Amino acid sequence: MSSTEHAIISPAILYWGTPVVLVTSENEDGTSNIAPMSSAWWLGHSCVLGFGAESKTPQNILRTGECVLNLPSDTMGDVVNKLADTTGSDPVSDAKTSRNYRFVKDKWARAGLHPQPSSFVAPPRIAECPVQMECQVVQVTELRKDLPDRAGLAIAIEVRVLRVHVLQSLRMEGHPNRVDPDKWRPLIMTFQELYGLRDGKVVPSVLGRIDEEKYRGFTRSDVKKLPGDDDDQIAVAEGEA
Ligand SMILES: Cc1cc2nc3c(=O)[nH]c(=O)nc-3n(C[C@H](O)[C@H](O)[C@H](O)COP(=O)(O)O)c2cc1C
Repeated sequence: MSSTEHAIISPAILYWGTPVVLVTSENEDGTSNIAPMSSAWWLGHSCVLGFGAESKTPQNILRTGECVLNLPSDTMGDVVNKLADTTGSDPVSDAKTSRNYRFVKDKWARAGLHPQPSSFVAPPRIAECPVQMECQVVQVTELRKDLPDRAGLAIAIEVRVLRVHVLQSLRMEGHPNRVDPDKWRPLIMTFQELYGLRDGKVVPSVLGRIDEEKYRGFTRSDVKKLPGDDDDQIAVAEGEA
């Protein structure tokens, strides 16, 4: 229960802060799509990517087995914002329409980004990103299998990083295969806002205009109740008291 130091709250999302990734993937017609995402974690040369299954990018990745993970620096918040309310899916789903997304076929033009050919995979790298990783799919897992009406809405895609490209200026002196963390400034997304590894928001976030509550449907079932499902009401009741 609540104490003076801790309150029980139920944020609709738990995005505590992870680097933004611009994922390039190949469309059915051979053109490429770009999508910002940040539910990614890394272990060795494996990466697990969390996606809403309805997006164009996971559909492209599952069909082709490939993608490129491009990491923007903290100076690229405006680029991410230009892509933030777009989808490569036509028609736009009801869920995305309610969050004001629109279909954009050419996201490269939309964001002012330029493609560079990859070595091993079809999707191009993004020239403006200091880090670019060519990847192939290892396995896919449906999330939320505990909820019959939400199972598969989100998926985790495990990819293997095949090749890493980094700007020369990020390399650690005397270590040919190392990145110098003093030189790498990732763009971090925390609760839909964009930060760098320094104080303050780098730019006001377009994604941050979306009401977080719109995401609650991803995690709470309409037909099966779990402990904690009503925790969002605890804070509301405390506020009213
Ligand atoms: C900074 C940022 C981070 C995002 N993180 C994710 C994420 O981790 N997973 C996800 O499915 N969507 C995420 N999104 C939303 C997708 O970009 C959005 O669903 C987009 O429409 C996907 O494009 P696509 O449909 O062309 O693939 C994020 C958006 C932004 C701006």
